[in-house]
Amino acid sequence: MKFKYLTLILIIFGVVFSSCKKKEEERSDLSAGNSTSYTFTSVAFDTPADWVEGDMSKRFLSGDAIYDSPRNTGTEMNGGLGEMYNGYTCAGCHDNAGRTITTLHTEGGTGTNGYSTFLAFLQSSDQTFIDNYGGVLHDQAVVGVTPEGILSVTYTEKEYSFPDGEKYSLLTPNYTITDWWQEEGDYEQSIRTPLRHVGMGMMLAVDRDMIKEIATEDYSEYGISGKVNYINGMVGLVGHKADHTDLTVEISFASDMGTANSKFPKESEFINAHMSNINKSEVSDEDMADVDFYLHTLGVPARRNIDDPDVIKGELLFKQAKCHLCHVQTLHTRTEGATLIDGTTLTQLGDQEIHPYTDYLLHDMGDELGDNVTSYDATGNEWRTTPLWGVGLQTVVNGHTYFMHDARARNYTEAIMWHGGEGEYSRNAFANMAKEERDAMIKFLQSL
Ligand code: HEC
Ligand code: HEC
Repeated sequence: MKFKYLTLILIIFGVVFSSCKKKEEERSDLSAGNSTSYTFTSVAFDTPADWVEGDMSKRFLSGDAIYDSPRNTGTEMNGGLGEMYNGYTCAGCHDNAGRTITTLHTEGGTGTNGYSTFLAFLQSSDQTFIDNYGGVLHDQAVVGVTPEGILSVTYTEKEYSFPDGEKYSLLTPNYTITDWWQEEGDYEQSIRTPLRHVGMGMMLAVDRDMIKEIATEDYSEYGISGKVNYINGMVGLVGHKADHTDLTVEISFASDMGTANSKFPKESEFINAHMSNINKSEVSDEDMADVDFYLHTLGVPARRNIDDPDVIKGELLFKQAKCHLCHVQTLHTRTEGATLIDGTTLTQLGDQEIHPYTDYLLHDMGDELGDNVTSYDATGNEWRTTPLWGVGLQTVVNGHTYFMHDARARNYTEAIMWHGGEGEYSRNAFANMAKEERDAMIKFLQSL
């Protein structure tokens, strides 16, 4: 009697177990291997990977809290804002670890509530830093201090038609900086919108040899060839120009918020010429490392609606239009994973198959998208392929569909139609599709 029950239980267990295993093998929605998460709400980008447990959870929560806390002008914990800055919390620009709607569109440029949600990079015409301003225009300041300048944008809207008659329009931005704090500047400027924090850890664990290998591919029939941005011999991965090799935590505290730290104390004037409290560290190394830990250990949302026929069709069209030659679907992470700024190594990020939809390489995207600000090997027209994992959830997380480095595109169609230079083949392929095909392609993007 007892034995019979046991056999039955074993059989049931066996069936359940094998079906789980099968499910695991078949799952093509896994965006980032062991770091894939199944949270699709407004915290879809702000949820830890499953393997973050125990002490790691504590560090994650600590980093998350420091990231979200507004800095103030005091000198204690959370202090050190300004004197000049752009935003007073990381989350101000990366709301829910995403891309906050930009004040370029909501306020016509510099924000009037004490923060802006973009960065304006500055360079002199001979491509050097400007002593009085540093690398970025700090368009906000604490009470009693004048900011470095004020940025405004106007847009010229022009309507176009696809070959099948459907209409779309594009906004061309015109940026002006006024109210210069010091000498009137006739500087080159590069306006940038924040990036979604999807797959930060996987990005830093990525197999560099694979990236270099992809850079050697030359798809001359489509005019596509990617380029590594080398930073002192290392592969740049981070930012719209792939011009950083770490998650920019220290530089973000220093430049974006004016918060001096051990890596960027006051004397690094080229970062933010007006940081308060000379030579005083206003955020501890431990806190910055916790923020770095938090960013590395965020989960990556799984794909959705992968069985929808339109999504399947859209994926085929994505490949037909050669989007995948830059927005590369599959990469691998190196065995050792990634190492944080405090030396902690996260091997959990290692040996994973990931689907970031980027090659992390620079591409010349044409004059219309370009500006004249260079960075290391990146020219003004070259931009890093933006990772598309999570792009479909930007609406849920941040409530808008502004895309491209300066958020000039208002939706997916405009984003694609802004692709010039190496992206021209893809743009034309998209334009020449039937409307249902363009819609299917967009549905595919929404499933990422
Ligand atoms: C005023 C807005 C603003 C604030 C505040 C801000 N960021 Fe950013 N962040 C940006 C912009 C704009 C970019 C893109 C910059 C570029 O092109 O290199 C960016 C890029 C990044 C990236 C690169 C992401 C990628 O995919 O390559 C990371 C990581 C990051 N920020 C972290 C932080 C952290 C941590 C803080 C707080 C210490 C912070 N940011 C504060 C605007 C901001
Ligand atoms: C030659 C390389 C290349 C090709 C081909 C390409 N892209 Fe891109 N894509 C980029 C780069 C580089 C950017 C970032 C440009 C910028 O920010 O100004 C980008 C940005 C985007 C964005 C905006 C992402 C964001 O969050 O702002 C979307 C959406 C996009 N691409 C979709 C596509 C689709 C769909 C296709 C095919 C029709 C395609 N791309 C083909 C390189 C490419």
